[in-house]
This record gives sequence, structure tokens and C-alpha cells, in this order.
Amino acid sequence: MLDISLLGDEVLREPTERVTVFDSTLSILVDAMFDTMDEADGVGLAAPQVGVSKRIFVVDTRQEGGRIAFINPEIVETSEERSHYEEGCLSVPGIYKDVIRPAAVTVQAQDVTGRAFTIKATGLLARVVQHENDHLYGKLFIDRLPDEEREKVLRQWERRSKGRGKRKK
Ligand code: NI
Repeated sequence: MLDISLLGDEVLREPTERVTVFDSTLSILVDAMFDTMDEADGVGLAAPQVGVSKRIFVVDTRQEGGRIAFINPEIVETSEERSHYEEGCLSVPGIYKDVIRPAAVTVQAQDVTGRAFTIKATGLLARVVQHENDHLYGKLFIDRLPDEEREKVLRQWERRSKGRGKRKK
């Protein structure tokens, strides 16, 4: 199992690099990411969350066809229609907030072998893809909250981290 970085860890804010080599090292990493996501009971996990600054994320919406690894993903189209959804993040445990995003997206990516694919995602998959894709740009869901609400979340996180006494710098 891989360690999951938490809010405050620099790696969550760093830019990511494209994957250029599709070898066994990549598939081992992706398998470990799936295992880590499953163990943490998450629906998505991006490489920066396990300390790897690469353009990779995995999702599992627990629906048919919803367990997918995305390598070098690009969101190429977003719907005008927006939707609300209460999001959480394995890197910001215990915080759940309503976030507004496009209801549907088209995403192009490669699989672990380098084969290109395109998915038109709606519902939960569209939501998770956008959340995980944000991680590849150093962005967290709390960054998408109104300023006042984000400040509140950060204060709440700060207090809780002090209480736990295990905030990593
Ligand atoms: Ni997240």
C-alpha cells in the first residue's frame, strides 16, 4: 500500500509530467494505486496523492465499466449543464463540501499499455474524472469553493491537524 499525501504536503501542489514510458514500472504503480484507493475506500486517486508527480489517475465508480486507469488524460469537452455534488478527497479526510462542475465531460487518455481511448463521462464518473484531473494541476476540490467557505475549511483543517499532531510539512 502507498502512503497518501495530505493537504499541506507540497507534492499535492506540484506540476505533473506526462508519462512517456509504458513499461512494467508503470503498470506496477497503477496496480498499487488501485489497491491503495480500494483500501482507503475511495472512488478515485491521482498520482500526486501518492507522491508521484505524473499525469496518472485511477477511478472506480463501482458501476459497470467504472474501474479505469487514465494516463495522460485531457478533458477535451465539458457540458454547459452544471451539477452539484458533495465531494471529499483522500488527501483532505473528513471534509465534504458541495462543488459545482460541468455535468458531463469528454476525456481522452491512454491506458497502461499506451493505447489511446476516449470516454464521454456523465454522472459520478464525470465528477470523479474532473476531481482527479484537477489533482494533476496541483488543484484540490477545496480550491473550487467560495473564498469564505474555503477559509473556513482551512481553519477547520488546521485545528484538527494540531489536535492530531501529525501534520506533515
Ligand atoms: Ni482528491
